[in-house]
Amino acid sequence: MNMSDLLNQRHSCRAFLDKPVPTETLEQIFELAQRAPSNCNVQPWQTLVVSGEQKDALSQALVNAVMQQQPPNPDFNWAIAYQNEHRERQFGSANALYGALGIAREDKRARQMAMLRNWQFFDAPHVAIFTMDKYLDIMGAVDMGIYAQNLSLIMQEHGVSNCMQGALGQFPDPIREMFGLPDERGVLFGMSFGYADPDAPANQARTTREDLKTNVQFF
Ligand SMILES: Cc1cc2nc3c(=O)[nH]c(=O)nc-3n(C[C@H](O)[C@H](O)[C@H](O)COP(=O)(O)O)c2cc1C
Repeated sequence: MNMSDLLNQRHSCRAFLDKPVPTETLEQIFELAQRAPSNCNVQPWQTLVVSGEQKDALSQALVNAVMQQQPPNPDFNWAIAYQNEHRERQFGSANALYGALGIAREDKRARQMAMLRNWQFFDAPHVAIFTMDKYLDIMGAVDMGIYAQNLSLIMQEHGVSNCMQGALGQFPDPIREMFGLPDERGVLFGMSFGYADPDAPANQARTTREDLKTNVQFF
């Protein structure tokens, strides 16, 4: 697949087959993603790739944190209340997902349960947790986003689907504890990945994009 095909066909995947990605493929994907550019080539990403029983234990710990209604305590200040057109687009993406899942707008409980799927990693066989040193702040986060998109596209080239998840940065404590992260390291976000279940309702959701002129001005 060429880059245009990869970009046109990529979409977030929220239902996976129970089939792990071979270790050799995982290593190829994460090796190539290292080619990402970063400011001054600092390469801030410290990635935890978690699979198997440890992934299940991590999911359980995160679900427990959510179910205990602990307030989110992200390591980075990203809990934004979107405004204006951003809020409209946020609703648009939520409606695409809930529409595909057949969840009505007013069905708060079903929406909460759908949200919980984030911390169950949508039953993906693998999850990548993206951490970086906290002091790197916004420029580090820029680098991390570029790295994550590299990963996403390389995965797709291997037929591996994924969903980037800000939700995985909301409750860093269980992650910190399980992997012994030092205090100076922060959990930014994560990505569940594996082979897509093509028939799952969640994977029928598609989002739209604005017209070019809304976002780009040529001078
Ligand atoms: C940084 C980032 C964080 C995201 N966080 C979540 C998340 O926590 N849960 C989720 O289901 N999707 C999450 N997404 C996926 C977006 O909702 C999705 O990319 C967007 O709606 C566009 O849809 P598409 O990826 O299918 O093109 C995230 C995407 C990005 C880039």
